[in-house]
Amino acid sequence: MTVDLTITPLHVPDTLDAPDAEDFVVYGEFNRRVCAETAGLPDLAPTAAQMLPAWRDPSDTRHTGFVARRGEQIVGIVTIDYPQEEGARAAEIDVLVPEEFWGRGVEDALLDHAEDEARREGRTTFQGWTLHRPDVPGARIVTPRTGWGRMPTNPPAELLETRGYELEQIERNSELDLTGDLAVVRQALADAERAAGADYRVVAWNLPTPPERRAGYAAVLARLTTDAPSGDMEFDDEAWDADRVVRRDARLTGAGQLMSVVAVEHLPTGDLVAYNELLIGEDRTGVTHQFGTLVAKEHRGHRLGTIVKCANLLRWRELVPLSRRVSTYNAEENRPMLDINEALGFIPVSYAGAWQKKI
Ligand SMILES: CC(C)(COP(=O)(O)OP(=O)(O)OC[C@H]1O[C@@H](n2cnc3c(N)ncnc32)[C@H](O)[C@@H]1OP(=O)(O)O)[C@@H](O)C(=O)NCCC(=O)NCCS
Repeated sequence: MTVDLTITPLHVPDTLDAPDAEDFVVYGEFNRRVCAETAGLPDLAPTAAQMLPAWRDPSDTRHTGFVARRGEQIVGIVTIDYPQEEGARAAEIDVLVPEEFWGRGVEDALLDHAEDEARREGRTTFQGWTLHRPDVPGARIVTPRTGWGRMPTNPPAELLETRGYELEQIERNSELDLTGDLAVVRQALADAERAAGADYRVVAWNLPTPPERRAGYAAVLARLTTDAPSGDMEFDDEAWDADRVVRRDARLTGAGQLMSVVAVEHLPTGDLVAYNELLIGEDRTGVTHQFGTLVAKEHRGHRLGTIVKCANLLRWRELVPLSRRVSTYNAEENRPMLDINEALGFIPVSYAGAWQKKI
């Protein structure tokens, strides 16, 4: 442990212009720097303003953090997220140390601190994510336990590896250029709608979710943690109801963000059976982020994934015409989802490693 390092809790301010918001603002900056340094894509990081509403509402996930200082200078931050499900075992740890301060014990001290905290909270499964460029000449290549995908390692990944974390899974981060002609998307939508037939109808809304859609939306949102491939990452099952949708909507729209949801209603039952979400920050010229996409198991194979994806991209062009690209993450083993994205023109731009250690 470095002698002159002090580690104190990350204070969560009421607003970002409050006098006590300085550390949280630095948290946003460090997140952006680390995304730039590891993946070459600073826009992967949400801003401090985008993150604050989630930090201020601990009902579903409790976010905590610690700040490392050398003298007055902040040299690293670690965050630990605790899912609030009954009996939850997981803690997600994110070590943020810019290259300038890396390699002098800060990252080890912060990881020690986070693991001690998580252990004290009774958590026994520690998880972490690292971001990676697609090609780094001379870098060692690592493969996950799923056997799907490969990526060049980097210092944050090596830190976790040295500390006993296993690389469980690799996610591919791909982007779609939104500035060109979306004829391929229009054609794919028309073909998929024809294949799906008359039992299915597209519905769409912007967050906040209309009251009559909340319960149906909750039912499909609940399935993302269980249905999307996650290797041996042990995510606690999430309990969803209409109230949780209201809380999530408030967190997601809290900082001027816009989210569009396109869903498919199964007309014979009235159930929502597929959905797709696109989100952008207050700056509507920035990068669009793909959130969830899912088709309920009983309704797969009717091209509903293509329908929700394409219909939302076309809707998005009208809503947010100045956003130039969409960024998405998909597990390397998720062939059904990758097939859809590849057909629409998504191109891999970086990778994310999912790490886990059980104690
Ligand atoms: C990805 C997903 C949305 C695609 O579903 P979909 O729109 O029903 O897929 P399609 O209709 O294009 O199906 C194409 C084929 O793949 C099959 N298929 C679709 N999803 C499948 C899955 N998860 N596992 C195995 N086969 C699957 C279909 O049965 C169909 O086979 P067929 O051509 O022999 O009939 C769906 O698999 C899903 O919801 N997965 C779980 C959630 C998830 O992974 N989301 C993405 C997170 S990044």
